Amino acid sequence: MKAIEIRNKYLKFFEEHGHKVIPSSPLIPENDPSVLFTTAGMQPLVPYLLGQKHPEGTRLTDYQKCLRTNDIDEVGDNRHLTYFEMLGNWSLGDYFKEESIKLSYDFLTKELGIPEERISVTCFAGDSDCPKDELTASCWEKAGIPKDRIYFYGKEDNWWIAGEEGPCGPDTEMFYDTGKPKCSPDCQPSCDCGKYVEIWNNVFMEYYKKDGKYTKLTQKNVDTGLGLERMTMLLQGKETPFDTELFKGVMDKLKELAKVDDIASIRIVAEHMRSSMMIIADGGRPSNIDRGYILRRLIRRMTRHLNKLQVDLKELPNLLDLNIDILKEMYPELESQRQEIKEVINAEKDKFMRTLNNGEREFNKVINKLKSQNIDKIDGKTIFNLYETYGFPPEVTKDLATENGFKVDLSEVEKLFKEHQEKSRMGSDQKFKGGLAEQNEKTIAYHTATHLLNAALKKVIGENSHQRGSNITVERMRFDFNCDHKLTDEEKQKVEEIVNEWIKEDLPVTVETMQKEDALKSGAECMFIEKYPDDVTVYTIGNISKELCGGPHVKHTGELGHFKIVKEEASSQGVRRIKAILEEK
Ligand code: SER
Repeated sequence: MKAIEIRNKYLKFFEEHGHKVIPSSPLIPENDPSVLFTTAGMQPLVPYLLGQKHPEGTRLTDYQKCLRTNDIDEVGDNRHLTYFEMLGNWSLGDYFKEESIKLSYDFLTKELGIPEERISVTCFAGDSDCPKDELTASCWEKAGIPKDRIYFYGKEDNWWIAGEEGPCGPDTEMFYDTGKPKCSPDCQPSCDCGKYVEIWNNVFMEYYKKDGKYTKLTQKNVDTGLGLERMTMLLQGKETPFDTELFKGVMDKLKELAKVDDIASIRIVAEHMRSSMMIIADGGRPSNIDRGYILRRLIRRMTRHLNKLQVDLKELPNLLDLNIDILKEMYPELESQRQEIKEVINAEKDKFMRTLNNGEREFNKVINKLKSQNIDKIDGKTIFNLYETYGFPPEVTKDLATENGFKVDLSEVEKLFKEHQEKSRMGSDQKFKGGLAEQNEKTIAYHTATHLLNAALKKVIGENSHQRGSNITVERMRFDFNCDHKLTDEEKQKVEEIVNEWIKEDLPVTVETMQKEDALKSGAECMFIEKYPDDVTVYTIGNISKELCGGPHVKHTGELGHFKIVKEEASSQGVRRIKAILEEK
């Protein structure tokens, strides 16, 4: 079964069981400063898991584009991916454990045809926060899984939460037995020898964690996630996702072009190329911070490995075309942005090649100095500095150093890298700590201010100015929009005046649910039309703004305080960025 068939089967199955199919949200979350990328299907649904009414009802299903970068350095082995697709179904205070388990069991055995004896499941063993999940185990037994394939584990395996704060709960995971021999008599689903592969995770979200404490949510939800690449691999009897049709065409082409036989590098190129394309299609651009930096790293790493494989870099546009051709049926946004994707990746590749060349010059300076001092070893710190300052990859340093008769001790470099990684990991954990659901008075006010700013920009620079992104924290808002020039002081002042005038007028902010088509006909704007389901919520502010939006917003603009632009700068080609604050009245 091809990946797209699995996706379609999944959505159809849940639709037949009363779920509304909602579109994938973009990889780049809107109005959620706490994460860089969408990392799970539940993420865009947090407000609804917390009790807000979803316009499509209480049973939802979708495929969600996800990116997880914690294990970026592991890509190249036979399983790690950064970009992946998660199939999911949700009950928002509707069905709970029994029905969720029955649906999963039926989908796996009847729709995908997985023999029942290949499935093992795990349940939460219980602790002082939450009792042992006997109900889930008995639901599995009722569905058809014998006791000896039902395992109980603690929070580390059978509890799910995104980060440190947010909706969470015990989960039950389904494992596929590959038929490989047990690595030891104790081999169980929790073992990572490869015999058991996790295929689906159903989270019974009835808690909220904050400051280490758990409280009950107002409604009991189900949140499930099934990794499409992995399921495709298993159903096709392949050893790695790279052997499935999602990657195979590009992998084969790379094998043909490479002058060096290195499967890890070939996988890295194929994987990072796909992730980069997906990020760019959803509006991401390379930069030196946050998500832009992740994208930059992915493209650079891909380029480095193309170099390592001695693939002529002139082939890159052809490889991108091939990759888009392979994936466009699943992701039409790749086709519609083919040109843009190719331009962004190529430009970044060129920039990186210049970096490499500069690095090589610096490297030569270093070894000439060492030679003049009669030293024949390059220490780890120097190698690390070449990487940090010039982006010069350690493995390139090592190759060149050896060619020049120098000894290299990479273990020290590894240590420095580990420290560096630890720091950046801490950085991304910090992002999570803000909490996925951080919606307080301040962020809600900023959210409404983005609508006012969007409307004011149209008045000042023209109707063609559209929102290209936004990001909100409790301290400030950031707003990206199309514009072909740097705003003049007069333009900035005018925008501020208009927004503050609307705040002073204390305009009502109203919300209504309507059909997407009707909303668009009525002139409501939105950033990513494909992101929205058929029934949408539309927020209207007085008669100055109408936007498709999930909310929440303030009730009257008078609640916002004084709007002030603190910075206006370029964001990417043809896109400007405004940072603004709301001052106390
Ligand atoms: N949120 C859970 C996960 O990411 C289930 O979808 O595994």
